Amino acid sequence: MRLLAYIMVALMALVAFALSTVLLAMPRMNWSATRTRGQMESRLASYITNNWIKRNADEQPNPFRPTSENLKAGQDDFDEHCSGCHGLTGNCENRLEADFYPPVAKLTGDTQKWSDGELYFVITNGIGMTGMPGFGKKHDPKEIWGMILWVRHLAQLSPPEKAAIESRMRMTTEQHEEMMQMMQKSYPEPAEIRHPRNPKLGPEAGHQ
Ligand code: HEC
Repeated sequence: MRLLAYIMVALMALVAFALSTVLLAMPRMNWSATRTRGQMESRLASYITNNWIKRNADEQPNPFRPTSENLKAGQDDFDEHCSGCHGLTGNCENRLEADFYPPVAKLTGDTQKWSDGELYFVITNGIGMTGMPGFGKKHDPKEIWGMILWVRHLAQLSPPEKAAIESRMRMTTEQHEEMMQMMQKSYPEPAEIRHPRNPKLGPEAGHQ
């Protein structure tokens, strides 16, 4: 009996030691969203989220057809709610000029292998602890199905459609640059600005 009690106490001490080591080590790790993801972590995370989606998603196909009206509505909603992160063409070039951890998914690649029901599940629930938000509570099903139609369409854009979207992208970039130049004129900056307390980001990594 006594031996058992000793073993129990030793085990509890070991667990407490392990927990406190983890707690002490965690803030010393790199939690930056600008770091690159290791292969092991990337595989483990995809394994978990992919299986979570497969286990929970319904197999319902999209009840809406890709008519020009439905596609237009899907595009408008996608541009408003998704393109900030996924890019207007879904190629994951986000419009925030920022880094995500894990990185934003490219919607025109492997994402197309998900069924309609699986895409619906991801978009309504989002993926916790990543930048992917859940849209289910604030958007009705028709809107979400419409965006799915547009996500499917993005993988098969015709060259003129692609050119039209890209010219729109250039326009917004130009507007943004004009705005930044106007702001710089009203608030002239000192000669050299560095990111404070971050040795990994030099001034060249800052906003131009
Ligand atoms: C704030 C940024 C952000 C917004 C806005 C956003 N997403 Fe995402 N999305 C992400 C990130 C980051 C991931 C990658 C998550 C991961 O690696 O698990 C992702 C993943 C996805 C995936 C899963 C891709 C895959 O192959 O596993 C789909 C589908 C998706 N997003 C669609 C959308 C749609 C549609 C919208 C708009 C309704 C949207 N997203 C809005 C950041 C965003």
